[in-house]
Amino acid sequence: MIVFLIGFMGCGKSYIGRHVAELIGMDYLDMDLEIETRTGKSINQIFEDIGESGFRTLETKFITSLQSNQNIIISTGGGAPCFGNNMELINKKGISIYLNRSKEIAFAQLLKGQAKRPLIKEMTEEELNNFYDKKLNERKIYYEKANFLAGNRDFVAIAKLIKTLQL
Ligand code: S3P
Repeated sequence: MIVFLIGFMGCGKSYIGRHVAELIGMDYLDMDLEIETRTGKSINQIFEDIGESGFRTLETKFITSLQSNQNIIISTGGGAPCFGNNMELINKKGISIYLNRSKEIAFAQLLKGQAKRPLIKEMTEEELNNFYDKKLNERKIYYEKANFLAGNRDFVAIAKLIKTLQL
């Protein structure tokens, strides 16, 4: 079973994915890192070289390349479910969990990791604040196609949820 963790930048997809996988003995893969490995470039560099649309093509290629019978937890890039028919692909290949964190939790994380994210790296805190509300509002319709909504559940609770799905 492939378990996709989806949600906005800063919601903890990588942190939760790593810890859940360790707890229940599944493999773990971070989609952005995998794209960086496959291209030999950082996400920032990819955006510079081929723009956002080129990056979105790489995301779709990555999702398409997955085999449904893999036993793995994948944290997706924050925008991945929101382009093309990626969300349909995700739900066809595995099960999806939307980490719909409260803004208080996600925003603090986002501020810390701004530099590695091309879409927000130049923004002031106020601009980022407005961007967060606007983008999340646009993206919600995609995220909410997920099979499960995790709210603010911690990784232990999310691990338990995945365990029940494996039975
Ligand atoms: C993006 C989120 C990033 C990364 C890229 C674009 C987005 O992943 O894929 O910078 O459009 O929301 P994280 O959600 O892991 O930060």
